Order: sequence, then structure tokens, then C-alpha cells
Amino acid sequence: MNKIALVIGAAVLLAGGYYVGQSGQKPATVIKVDSQPKAAFTSTGAEEVAQSSAATVRSLVTPTSGELIVVKDGESIQDAVVAASPGAVIKVMPGTYKETVYIDKDNITLSGVIEQGKYPVLEGEGLRNDAVLYSGNGVTVENLYITHYKGNGVMGQAGNNFVIRNNFIVDTGVYGIFPQLGKNGIVSHNIVSGIEDAGIYIGMSDNVDVVFNQVFDSVAGIEIENSRHALVESNFVYNNTGGILAFITPGLPIKSCGDVLIRNNFIVDNNHENFAIPGSLVSNIPAGTGVLVMACDDVVVEGNIITGNDSVGITFTDFSLAGNAANDPDSEPNPNRPKILNNIMRNNGNDPAPAVRVVLAAMLETTGPDIVDTVGMDDGCILNPERYRTIGIGKYTECDFSTTANIASYTLPEPVPARSMEDMDKGKLAFYGICAGCHAYGSRMIGPPTQIIQALYMDNPEGIAEYAANPVKKRPDYPQMPPQSHLDEETRLAAARYMLQVTH
Ligand code: HEC
Repeated sequence: MNKIALVIGAAVLLAGGYYVGQSGQKPATVIKVDSQPKAAFTSTGAEEVAQSSAATVRSLVTPTSGELIVVKDGESIQDAVVAASPGAVIKVMPGTYKETVYIDKDNITLSGVIEQGKYPVLEGEGLRNDAVLYSGNGVTVENLYITHYKGNGVMGQAGNNFVIRNNFIVDTGVYGIFPQLGKNGIVSHNIVSGIEDAGIYIGMSDNVDVVFNQVFDSVAGIEIENSRHALVESNFVYNNTGGILAFITPGLPIKSCGDVLIRNNFIVDNNHENFAIPGSLVSNIPAGTGVLVMACDDVVVEGNIITGNDSVGITFTDFSLAGNAANDPDSEPNPNRPKILNNIMRNNGNDPAPAVRVVLAAMLETTGPDIVDTVGMDDGCILNPERYRTIGIGKYTECDFSTTANIASYTLPEPVPARSMEDMDKGKLAFYGICAGCHAYGSRMIGPPTQIIQALYMDNPEGIAEYAANPVKKRPDYPQMPPQSHLDEETRLAAARYMLQVTH
């Protein structure tokens, strides 16, 4: 009986299929495609592996001496750093530490001890400028909870081979994590929020991986600025004004930006009102920006999930969005050779910010696009452009590679040597590594343009050095400059002399 029912059923199904086929339901169209796999991406400076190990937790191996110093609640971390020899590990027990820590020695590991969810807390009380400043090489900063500082959470000043990981950086001033002028470093597994400029800011650096971080409620989530060979991967970046940015700030001493891989990130709902210091460069970032590439070359955007960013999902642009920022004759403004592989994009452009409406006026429909190239580059490439709503990519060709999986990291396998005095004298190094974090030549960053300072101080480097040691509030529309008294007098004077001779 069952058998009979089955047979009848099958016959009815067959007949039905036949009937439907005859009566207008279209049979599937089979298109034969040439399915030759595309080659993988090639890039100089990358550590290439046969199979992507992108999911591995990576580290740099820097030498340790076996010296261990333990800092307990009520003691001073800075005292421990002063007592330490290069190669020491400094363990910081849970507790509250109200101080700024300067690390000017090599291969120091500053490592918080977490017990039952309790962290060592560096508490700035809204008074102190910086939590951790390092200028040594091979410095690791990990497992700290940093909050309420006015300037930087963790800032590197020309230190190479750095590791900044597993930290909480909460409501802490201008820059959350800011390696400046560093080569070969890792920023990973940090949770960064409430920063009024950039949560994670890679400035004038080379060979850096920014991976597995959570960055939210800040103006710029992750910013790769005037840097080369940066991998930004597997980060969760949401509710910032702009999510992930790769750009040139005009007027900084290092002029180029390139080889940036923005891969496998979640870039979601970056619609936060812009609360940057008015007039600063990032105050020009339109709310609702997912990925913004300004004047940075050879940027690959691959495998990201980019949703709910109200202005634009991915923007490639020249300096036209940078508001009042002066052009820099030494920085070519176009975002050359943009490369957009497959990304998942949905629900972007629902309510473009006024600045975006102005720039795109002629091309904008009611909503903003997933992808826009405001320049209309003719050397760009993209895969599957039909999947997105786009503006300005008419000259893009199809990318001749479909994956960057062969590139596991932009860090280098061996520690690189320290920046030596042969490459840079003391003044130049201090200016690049410290002052240029806030002073660009012709445009306003956090501090006034170098050009204006030159006009004020012409033949008076001593005056600059003195001001840098004991800054007083001068301009109502600028924040107060943090004292640079941790630099010795000779270094301050050398930096001041260098500042007076910068020409672009
Ligand atoms: C964290 C950001 C920051 C860093 C780093 C920084 N500055 Fe400043 N600087 C500022 C700000 C903000 C002002 C404006 C302060 C004001 O007008 O009240 C300023 C103003 C100045 C002025 C103008 C003083 C005047 O008389 O108007 C000089 C000179 C100066 N900085 C020198 C330096 C030097 C030299 C360095 C490096 C050793 C440096 N700054 C590093 C933020 C910074």
C-alpha cells in the first residue's frame, strides 16, 4: 500500500513538473563561465605564507633578561621602570595607579596582572595627559585598564618592535593607542572607546598589524596615517564617526601612505556625531563613514562586513574632504590604485552627512552609496561591482586577483634595529616622534600649524623649548598643550631648532 502510494505520488509529481515546464515557468538558465581562479595578491614588504594564518594570535619575540619586578597597589609603576634594566618584565598587580609612565629603555614588558576580572587601572582623573609613553624599542604594554587621561592612552615615540595588546582604553582624551614613528609592531585585542580623535592611530609608521581590536564611540575608529605596510584585520569597529581610515595628513614630515590591507573587519553603524576638537583635521570626518581612504595608495579592501554607515560604506578621495587642510606639495593627493575585492555591504548611505551631500551633490540620489570614488581614479580595480550602489568607479577594471590570503602579516620576522642617530639627529627625532603628533606644517592638527609657530618664534628656539617644558594656555579654541618636561633640556632645544627649520 505504501509502495503504491509512493509510485502514484511520484507519477503525479512528474506529471506536475512536466505540466509546469510546459506552461511558462522558465527552466533555469545555465551559463558556462570561465572559472579560472585568479592569482593571489602580491605586495612588497609582506610576510607571505602558503596558507593564511590570519586567525592566529601573533606576537613579536623581543629579548627579556629574566629580571622580574612586581608593582603592587599603592606603589609606583614609574619607580619600577626607573629601577628596571633593559629586558625586564614589570608585572603590575590589580589596583589603581594615578601616574604617567615613561619607558625610555629597550625590551621592557609592562604587563598587568588580571585577577578575577580585576585589572590594574591607570587613572588619569581628567588631570594627567598621558598614561604610558614609550620611546624604547621592543616595548610591550599589555593587560592594563587605562581611563580618564586627557592626551594619550599608550603612545610610542619612535620605538620599534612594539606590542600593545589586551588593554582597555576608556574615555581617554585625544589618542587611545598611538604608536608614532615606529617600525614593526602589533596592536591587538584592545578594547578602545570614547576617544575624541583616533581610537587606534598608527602615525608615520611601517610594518604594523592592527588586529582583533574592538573600537567604538570614538571620532576615528582606526586610523592609518602617513604609514606604509599596515594590516588592519578582524577588528570590530562600530558607532564611531568614521570606522577605518587610511590617509595622508598634509604637512607631516613623512609624506607617504601606502600598502594598507583592510581585511575581514566588521565596520558597522559608524554614525556617531563628530565630537572632535573643532577645527582639528578629524573634525572634518563626516558622520556615517565606514571606510575612508584619503590620498593613501595601494589600499586593498577585502572581506569586510560593512553595514549601516549612514553616509557612505567605502570612500576613496583626495584632500577635498579634508576641509581647511592645506595641500602638501610633497604629498600626491590621489588615492592611487584602489583595490576593492569582495565585501558584504548592506544598508549604507541612509542619511548622508551634509558635507557628503555637498561633495556628491550632482551624483547623489536620496541615499548615499556603498562605494564612492570622488576622484574617479582610472587605475582602480574592483570585483563584482554590480553588487553595490556605487559612484565614480566607472574607470575601475576587474581586479586580476581575488584574495590576499597569502599575506599573513605586515610585521617583519625579526626585530628591526632601533632608529639610530645616524638616520636622524636628536632634534629631528624628537620633532618627528613627538611634536609632529600634534603639529603639522600648514594645517591644524591638535596644535597650531608649525608655520604659525615659526612666525611667532623666528630666531628664538629657546622660547619654544621653554614653552614646550611649561606650556600655558594661549588660544581659547585649542586645548592646552601637554608639558614635554620628560624630555631633557638639550632634546627640547634640539626639537625647537628643528621645528624652526621645517619648510613643508
Ligand atoms: C599632544 C599634542 C601636542 C604635542 C605632542 C606637542 N604640542 Fe605644541 N601645542 C599643542 C597645542 C594644543 C598648542 C596650543 C596651545 C594653546 O594655544 O593654548 C600647542 C602650541 C605650541 C606652541 C605655541 C606656543 C605659543 O606661544 O603660541 C609651541 C611653540 C609648541 N606647541 C611647541 C611644541 C614642541 C616643540 C613640541 C614637541 C616637543 C610640541 N609642541 C608637542 C599640542 C601639542
